[in-house]
Amino acid sequence: MMATRAQQRPERSDPVRSGEQSRDFEFTSADFARIRELIHRSAGISLSDHKRDMAYSRLARRLRSRGLDTFKQYLDLLEAENDPAEWEAFTNALTTNLTAFFREAHHFPILADFVPRRAQPVSVWCSAASTGEEPYSIAMTLIEALGDSGARQASVLATDIDTQVLAKAEAGMYQFDQVKHLSPERLKRFFLKGTGAHAGMVKVRPEVRALVRFEQLNLTDRDYQLRSQFDAIFCRNVMIYFDKPTQAQVLARFEPLMKAGGLLFAGHSENFTYVTQAFKLRGQTVYELTRDASGARTPTATRGSATASHQAASGVTV
Ligand SMILES: C[S@@+](CC[C@H](N)C(=O)[O-])C[C@H]1O[C@@H](n2cnc3c(N)ncnc32)[C@H](O)[C@@H]1O
Repeated sequence: MMATRAQQRPERSDPVRSGEQSRDFEFTSADFARIRELIHRSAGISLSDHKRDMAYSRLARRLRSRGLDTFKQYLDLLEAENDPAEWEAFTNALTTNLTAFFREAHHFPILADFVPRRAQPVSVWCSAASTGEEPYSIAMTLIEALGDSGARQASVLATDIDTQVLAKAEAGMYQFDQVKHLSPERLKRFFLKGTGAHAGMVKVRPEVRALVRFEQLNLTDRDYQLRSQFDAIFCRNVMIYFDKPTQAQVLARFEPLMKAGGLLFAGHSENFTYVTQAFKLRGQTVYELTRDASGARTPTATRGSATASHQAASGVTV
């Protein structure tokens, strides 16, 4: 059997080049349009024009591993085979997973102040958990706010669409560089220092790890099921990848999953005021559910409705 061009070529790291001619694989505008359509349909992600090189370099790995020559072949195979593992790899390749411990730090004192005033045990959902830094920061905050014994009853559900980042999150191992900005107290209380083969690494302590449950969940899947309600939902730096109609759909799913008076934490450049009436802005990128314990909406719930339909129709890409 004749080897394909990809099989004959020696392995090398992804080229990120601007000219199409210098690329290893044929990648046309039609291919990119198809990728955009498929990732929007499967994960809600809107890829803008300037993500073209990124899509090329990330998916070129898939072509190499499947021994294919062109993006068209790959996309045909993806759609024809309907293989869940290839769809998972396709999605994993196109997500952006940047995160950090105690990122957007102003949210954590708000959470720490909020949870002791709630009926116990509290539960928090971290809905775009990436490699785990965010759900572990939430768990650490719960321990600081509720004490070791109070926090033992608490729980953090950490979900993400990307199975690769979830595997890293579950391991709870990080480079020391990723935690060096934390206070010595936090470092000592929440991390174990790696030795020998793990020198230069830290591991999240089992007491922190025990509060967090990891699961794969696609926020844009209309059928996802969660059994419990949450006191707080973290949905940070993921909505920026969704267009406005998708954001509205995601937020509509959050509403019944939130306990009365629950808080929704958004990323620094995310504004839900004009996307939903179910949450009102309470502070810097922190929203509160506008439904009380009886299920009635609080009076401020009507804000922003006129603009909402305009924005929902406009759509955005990142
Ligand atoms: C930029 S990271 C943000 C991580 C963390 N929330 C933070 O703010 O540091 C965005 C995460 O959203 C996840 N994501 C993208 N689309 C998703 C979807 N449809 N459902 C669930 N997670 C998604 C990505 O896999 C990625 O890990």
